[in-house]
Amino acid sequence: MNNIADHLKVLQKNGNLRTLRADLSHKKLIDLSSNDYLGLANRQDLINKFINENCQDEVAMTSSASRLLSITQQCYINLEHFLGDLYDRDVLLFNSGYHANCGIIPALCDKNTLILCDKLVHASIIDGIILSRAKFIRFKHNDLEHLRNLIKIHHTQYHEILVVTESVFSMDGDICDIPKLVEIKKEYPEVKLYIDEAHGFGIYGKKGLGLTEHFDLINNIDVIIGTLGKAGASVGAFAVTDADVKNYLINSARSFIFSTVFPPVNCKWSQFMIEQIVDMDNERKHLHKISKLLNNFFASIGYASNSTSQIIPLIIGNSHKVLELSQHLLDIGYIALPIRTPTVPVGTERIRFSLNAGLDYETIDTLINKLKELL
Ligand SMILES: Cc1ncc(COP(=O)(O)O)c(C=O)c1O
Repeated sequence: MNNIADHLKVLQKNGNLRTLRADLSHKKLIDLSSNDYLGLANRQDLINKFINENCQDEVAMTSSASRLLSITQQCYINLEHFLGDLYDRDVLLFNSGYHANCGIIPALCDKNTLILCDKLVHASIIDGIILSRAKFIRFKHNDLEHLRNLIKIHHTQYHEILVVTESVFSMDGDICDIPKLVEIKKEYPEVKLYIDEAHGFGIYGKKGLGLTEHFDLINNIDVIIGTLGKAGASVGAFAVTDADVKNYLINSARSFIFSTVFPPVNCKWSQFMIEQIVDMDNERKHLHKISKLLNNFFASIGYASNSTSQIIPLIIGNSHKVLELSQHLLDIGYIALPIRTPTVPVGTERIRFSLNAGLDYETIDTLINKLKELL
């Protein structure tokens, strides 16, 4: 602990010191940073409906134990069955996406597994991989030919190769070519696929189940992770998989076994939210349209990105400049937060715009006009 003060000074000097900002929720700001992609988190009509339908009798605010020890089970079982029916697979809930990735990957992999993961996967996946102690190699971002070559080189030395990637990348908003991934899996029986749909769930597919639904490939993926704290406007996560894997995870995923499960009230809210989300195809279409507008605007002024989703990075490449722009935007009423290293590589510091279906065309037009003045 001796060097902590020095470490903080270096972060400050490089513009990379993170601090917790004051609460801004009372201000009338347009939020362009949250992961509430369908704009559901503050829908008072839905909150009232949920309370009327679910909270009139008794409502449990805590589970007081992990699933394996808690006497409360029914709401979790109901949500797992509800999601299981939607995906037509087995489902296991986790406390968060972080818990899911840190618990499942080490449970499925050991020293005899090779993990091949995309260079830009989320920190929770990297932490899960490190906990697994399996050998891992990162393939170039979204470069599935690089992945194929790595499999070709290594597949005879391992019983199993777990390919781990995301459907929609959290900081770049670009998407993985899932059909090609499935093609590669078919060539190599050792390959298993693990896809994190944290930013795809709610947004893609007729029912909003994610890019795996959009491509009609749910059954070809060994483990799909969905999170509920983003488009789900709730908290928690789930793994979509097969019955044996589910039962195995109940017995071996340490983050599932050794952590108090999220409260029943959140579980019921999650189910209520997903019931809305499956019918929100119009909202999804609207979100894709406004995302395209902003993305095209950035491209037209020289800030093209690979994004094809609701996450649109404005890559500035300098922490201090990103901080400055974010502050200018805040001053004129927008929350658009800076993303700096180590979340993204040095030189790719950015504002991460994440749009939501509650934003109308006029708001996006006004934003574009303001950005014209600032950039
Ligand atoms: C790809 C990905 N997986 C997992 C997580 C973690 O999910 P949670 O916030 O539910 O812990 C995130 C969070 O941003 C993410 O981007």
